[in-house]
Amino acid sequence: MRTAVFSDLIGPEGVRIVDRPTPDPDAGEAVVDVEACSINHHDLWILEGDSAMVDGDDLPFVSGLDVAGVVRSVGDGVESVREGDRVVLCPNETCGRCRFCREGPENRCERFSLFHGGLAESARVDADRLISLPDSVDAVTAAALPTAYLTARHMLRQAAVSAGDLVFVPGATGGVGVASVQLADTLGARTIGTSSSAAKLDRLSALGLDHAVEGTDPETLREAVGAIGTPDAVLNHLGGAYTDVGLDLLRRGGRMVVCGRTAGNTSEIDVPDLFLGHKRVIGSTMGTQPELQGLVESVERGDLSPEIEATYPLEETAGAFAAMADREAVGKIVVTP
Ligand SMILES: NC(=O)c1ccc[n+]([C@@H]2O[C@H](COP(=O)([O-])OP(=O)(O)OC[C@H]3O[C@@H](n4cnc5c(N)ncnc54)[C@H](OP(=O)(O)O)[C@@H]3O)[C@@H](O)[C@H]2O)c1
Ligand SMILES: [Zn+2]
Repeated sequence: MRTAVFSDLIGPEGVRIVDRPTPDPDAGEAVVDVEACSINHHDLWILEGDSAMVDGDDLPFVSGLDVAGVVRSVGDGVESVREGDRVVLCPNETCGRCRFCREGPENRCERFSLFHGGLAESARVDADRLISLPDSVDAVTAAALPTAYLTARHMLRQAAVSAGDLVFVPGATGGVGVASVQLADTLGARTIGTSSSAAKLDRLSALGLDHAVEGTDPETLREAVGAIGTPDAVLNHLGGAYTDVGLDLLRRGGRMVVCGRTAGNTSEIDVPDLFLGHKRVIGSTMGTQPELQGLVESVERGDLSPEIEATYPLEETAGAFAAMADREAVGKIVVTP
């Protein structure tokens, strides 16, 4: 089977297309013929050599978390899916034994990890992590959901966002950013989103964004967002200087949920403002498999339509990552092996 491997951790030029044997499933596993695999900044961190999960010893490495396709074969003991089923993978890997696996939510598992291996014609996965797709949900749409939309969904829950809330999304044009705007909109919340690109922001109003703010300079954003209102919640996937800006703008008792660090691994916090303002900072990673199931159902009902910027054949996986690195996309980029 054709497989896109990371042969060097040097950015998009490090991707090679190679032939590998099609895998067979072990007990409890399924092999899925991958029709679509969306890419995430997580994969790009790995490809750029900026991930704690993968280093030179792991090369060549097959990334790709967000798999949708058709079950090709199943191993012994698998009853949840059958050959020919259309499925999307929940990429969560959990131990099933720790306190958090027992009590939930499962994404707090002490040994939490993620599936990698979707950037290939077939992928060998844990059959229990497959969710059946209704006929009306196509593979490209389904592949957009697992990481970006699941993470945004869980962040909105952690921030207890409800109808009428004002939600600030710094960096609103990427995978998690657009998902945050769209899912906040379905809850009846109002949103403020930022981007370095006016052209990309223009496309967000059709996706439910209420207030667009162009710019990257923290002081400019502080002023422009502050003039719009006082956010009840900030969904922060950028980190860096955006954490301080978001916390400063947040209302008394407001919640900031952080899931990423695209703009920097460290942030400053105005400590007196935090405690005097009764503000909360909450870390969040991915979401639960039932939440992903709920997102599939939202798409089926017509309540959610994930934004796809472009699809790329497997041979052009390097181009897909270049588009992400160059900040070209609004929404998700999907590879279709
Ligand atoms: N913890 C988790 O479970 C989890 C899950 C998903 C994602 N994440 C993290 O969340 C972040 C977003 O992931 P994604 O896949 O949505 O990425 P993405 O699609 O590449 O995000 C693009 C967005 O990030 C902005 N951006 C890119 N580089 C920037 C920079 N240097 N400074 C400021 N803004 C920048 C872009 O702004 P412009 O519009 O200005 O180009 C755009 O809004 C990543 O850090 C990722 O690792 C974490
Ligand atoms: Zn566990």
